[in-house]
Amino acid sequence: MPSDILTQKCSDPIGIFDSGVGGLSIAKRITEHLPNEQIIYFADSAFAPYGDISNQQIIERVNFIANSLINKQCKAIVIACNTATVNAIDQLRKRVTLPIIGVEPAIKPAAAISTSKKIGILVTQATANNARFLALVEQYKNGAQVFIQPCLGLVELIEQGLQSSEKFICLLKQYLTPLIAQGVDTLVLGCTHYPFMSDEIQKIVPNEINLIETATPVSEQLKRQLIKHHLLAENPATLAHQFYSSSENPTQNEIFSQLWGTNTNIKILK
Ligand code: DGL
Repeated sequence: MPSDILTQKCSDPIGIFDSGVGGLSIAKRITEHLPNEQIIYFADSAFAPYGDISNQQIIERVNFIANSLINKQCKAIVIACNTATVNAIDQLRKRVTLPIIGVEPAIKPAAAISTSKKIGILVTQATANNARFLALVEQYKNGAQVFIQPCLGLVELIEQGLQSSEKFICLLKQYLTPLIAQGVDTLVLGCTHYPFMSDEIQKIVPNEINLIETATPVSEQLKRQLIKHHLLAENPATLAHQFYSSSENPTQNEIFSQLWGTNTNIKILK
């Protein structure tokens, strides 16, 4: 895997990836926070959802994507996926010397603001089962009671732009009702697809429940890493953002463009 940080320049792009559209919630914040940067976004839609595949398969996909982004001259990589981060970031950091920024459920800030000391964490099944994630919960829960809720089926529907469908709302209610009954006052969105269902969550849970996501801390961490490695773009990017997907699904460009706000013009990369 080519990965020598000495060859990277400030004007090189930032590689960002997820199993699908979820990482756009992170990519969007990055482009707002670091407007000089050019991004290359990769959606591994042919293999989504990662929540349902094995740890070994996730590692293989992460290494393939990281390799592709490095070949496109990326100066840093953002794993904009909680499931890929907890399953594969450690091994990637051992192979690659570029700054690699991951996403982990924001348990620490949730524990800090919860007054009922009851926190719900919405995650994929592969995150819920992961030892690194469970250790993170223990490390940061700060005496709070934590309810981990795997949300099977939601990522697939968000990938199809079906957050408002009856099936989606029914599943969401099924996952949120027990958490509300337990008295949680803070909900951690532990999957980058879930900010795209914030409106639907707000309609189900009481008003006073806090929703916590991770886009801002991730873009701040990226900025710190770029500064540390002298890689922060000094001038506005001359090239447009680029979007790739491993899937040939003809409808995905429409869903991506809707979430991104302008035409993403997705290219296929396998
Ligand atoms: N957006 C991913 C995450 O943050 C996705 C999950 C999936 O593909 O299951 O975990």
